[in-house]
Amino acid sequence: MSNPIITLEGVEKAFGKNLVVKKMNLEIGEGEFLTLLGPSGCGKTTTLRMIAGFEDATTGVIKVEGEHVETKEAYQRNVNTVFQNYALFPHMTVYQNIAYGLTIKKVPKDEIHTRVMEMLRMVQLEGFEQRKPDALSGGQKQRVAIARALVNNPKVLLLDEPLGALDLKLRKQMQVELKRLQKKLGITFIYVTHDQEEALTMSDRIAVMHDGVIEQLDVPNEIYEHPKTRFVAGFIGESNIFDGVCEKVEGDMITMKSKNGIMTVKGEGFEVGEEMHIAVRLENVEHASTPVDGFDLPGKVKDFIYQGSVIKTSVDLDGGQEVNYTRFERVSEVEEGERLYIYWNPSKAVAIKKSN
Ligand SMILES: Nc1ncnc2c1ncn2[C@@H]1O[C@H](COP(=O)(O)OP(=O)(O)OP(=O)(O)O)[C@@H](O)[C@H]1O
Ligand SMILES: [Mg+2]
Repeated sequence: MSNPIITLEGVEKAFGKNLVVKKMNLEIGEGEFLTLLGPSGCGKTTTLRMIAGFEDATTGVIKVEGEHVETKEAYQRNVNTVFQNYALFPHMTVYQNIAYGLTIKKVPKDEIHTRVMEMLRMVQLEGFEQRKPDALSGGQKQRVAIARALVNNPKVLLLDEPLGALDLKLRKQMQVELKRLQKKLGITFIYVTHDQEEALTMSDRIAVMHDGVIEQLDVPNEIYEHPKTRFVAGFIGESNIFDGVCEKVEGDMITMKSKNGIMTVKGEGFEVGEEMHIAVRLENVEHASTPVDGFDLPGKVKDFIYQGSVIKTSVDLDGGQEVNYTRFERVSEVEEGERLYIYWNPSKAVAIKKSN
């Protein structure tokens, strides 16, 4: 990256003996929408708090616009934060809440007025300026919190699960609005969520975190199509994941032996004898009444669930693992208890290295 606005070099954070962020390296470009995605407790908020300068790194260096983050007081930084539990001042009006940061900085009153009104327009809350937070819906409160951060013209906005409290419909709507706002203003966003769909929709790049480590940093499409670790494969979308040992390599075709039987995947860089995983998305699983070349995964249909647009079928493999697949059908094409053989197009599955 030619000119990163934020850099993390070997950053670690320990609380007592508990290392919650480990050897993190990250460069974030100007105007980029980067998401930290991962399950509860993986270190997302801690990472964000260190970037904001609210928390010191135990080791490593964090630079914002080329300068060490510790060297500036919070109010001097070009970084603003929208917290996980956004707290508006309850006794202040919407107008006063948004104006607060500018008032503290003693910006002239008429300039404050212009900027606050501009923000209200941007988050589509014109006419709400005299309301108190109590008289707002969750989505409206959230938009006030975002306006309150944006009014300071930050170069970087850190957002910690800003849409977590909203219902699904409003969340989807706000996702689109936030993304538009970010593009229009050209502000760098570092966005924290544990919602993989939200991350895939909004981000330029996603850092998938697990146990204090970034397991994969990539554009959404690559994260979805080519998960690099077993964890990422399991966390993003729905996949069947098999564990086994590489048994045969022929060109770019790999045969893996698992407790369920033999299966084949397209991939490179694997050696006979090494432990590995194969991940297959539910829509890519096929079945046949006789074994298919490269596969030996016999099983029995367990049940189906109707999920609106698709039917999800569960198959108990004779080897013990359950396999799920989905189809866009009105009626299931198999019967409960029916015996069948599972397979897939080897290029539609992903070969994954075993992590150390
Ligand atoms: N001040 C603290 N003192 C001790 N441990 C802490 C402190 N803050 C966070 N932790 C621990 O650090 C780990 C990471 O916490 P963090 O808040 O960064 O997780 P998170 O990814 O934001 O999770 P969530 O999705 O639930 O918000 C957790 O195990 C947490 O208990
Ligand atoms: Mg958190």
